[in-house]
Amino acid sequence: MKTIHYPEGNVLLRNLSKAYPVCTHGKGVNLFDTQGKKYFDASGGALVTNLGHGNEELAAAIFEQIKKVAYVNGTQFTTQIMEDAAALLAEKAAPLGLNKVALLSSGSEAVEAAIKFARQLWVDRGFPNKHKLISRTPGYHGNTLYALSASGRPHYKKVYGPLISSVLTVSAPYGYRAPFTQSTETYDEILTEYHAKGADYYAQELETLIEKEGARTISAFIFEPVSGSSTGAWVPPQGYFKRVQEICKKNDILMIADEVMCGAGRTGKFFASEHYGLKPDIAVLGKGINAGMLPASAVMVKQSDVDQMKRASGGFMHAQTYMQVPSLAATVHAVLKFLNTHAVLEKSHAVSEYWLQELKRNILPLHYVGCVTGIGHMAGVEFVQDKTTRAPFPISKKFAAKFAQHAQDQGIILWPNYGQADGVNGDLIIMGPSLLMTKPEADECIGLLKNAIETFNI
Ligand SMILES: Cc1ncc(COP(=O)(O)O)c(C=O)c1O
Repeated sequence: MKTIHYPEGNVLLRNLSKAYPVCTHGKGVNLFDTQGKKYFDASGGALVTNLGHGNEELAAAIFEQIKKVAYVNGTQFTTQIMEDAAALLAEKAAPLGLNKVALLSSGSEAVEAAIKFARQLWVDRGFPNKHKLISRTPGYHGNTLYALSASGRPHYKKVYGPLISSVLTVSAPYGYRAPFTQSTETYDEILTEYHAKGADYYAQELETLIEKEGARTISAFIFEPVSGSSTGAWVPPQGYFKRVQEICKKNDILMIADEVMCGAGRTGKFFASEHYGLKPDIAVLGKGINAGMLPASAVMVKQSDVDQMKRASGGFMHAQTYMQVPSLAATVHAVLKFLNTHAVLEKSHAVSEYWLQELKRNILPLHYVGCVTGIGHMAGVEFVQDKTTRAPFPISKKFAAKFAQHAQDQGIILWPNYGQADGVNGDLIIMGPSLLMTKPEADECIGLLKNAIETFNI
């Protein structure tokens, strides 16, 4: 089998026009197909495989648990592995002050559970009018219907309009397209302006919205501490979260940090929130806490809030079949233990600094490249038609999708995204290689990306 192209086979393929290579195995940063072709997985799929492919230590630990007991229902039992996984997560979440864990499967599910937790908490505290959610545009929180409603991606919602719930939105920090950076010219000037003016600009927008809607009706504010594929890994401007935290506190609005993409060590700290001294009321993890082994996600909350629920309604009213499941707990436990025993974050720092610096040096000057952003092992590259005016390509060109396909043909896997410039147009790719990537592999990654850009013609 060389490739699969719709309508071959019985899989409902994600893209009905693409010829899919058939992946046989992976090792470290590389994937291989049936033709023996090697691919550098620079995006870890969708920023999932944080600890590389073919990680035998993780596989063995998970297998051991599955042999003992793979599944019990969270209403009937807890298990030692679940207790151990939760204890390790609580240790990591100590700087955020969160210590109770609901283990679920996907990021979308965990986001939905987090939003429900916030809402129930307000009912249990005696404020049933607090139900509205504020999210940011561009932003992404998942593809189930409420998580999609909360996602600032207008183009994803088009078809599902009648099923989408109303959610309030403010702008996500995004220096390249922020109105107050448009008169600057160089990339360094954009960054200077962004960090000088960003916190005030975005805080003002949030305050205005809260005033208009009435704090007494708002339950929570959901955000990605470091934006993921929606903006291409833009970090917040200096002082942003200090202001946002003050505003939420003053108005009794709960903060939900969606760390599905930026958490689990992706940005160099276990929680991206830690970079900004952020203490959210609820944090959501996914992707990296399972490293692609089995689909595990987590909602983390404060014991004092759970105590409140116990007193008022008895407990969190949320139930899913795959909640607190031993096989998924074993996955999270194995990943966290691996991070600890191999001092992954401590060691990954030098490589990520080098990788980001070399990415900027090598990729920013290339044609089509508007900006290169990132933190830790997470980087974005935005493509534009005109580097001076920052004009994006029209969406009809399908730049991001075609470029990612070209890059895959050239042997590097990237995660494309589009629509971020104005809700319709805009093209970027995001990268999130294994945290175990070596310096020579970082060079290889940059070389492959550079080659893909230089050989691409739209
Ligand atoms: C920030 C963020 N939240 C939530 C999700 C949804 O996670 P999942 O695709 O596992 O449902 C994603 C997925 O990309 C994400 O990046």
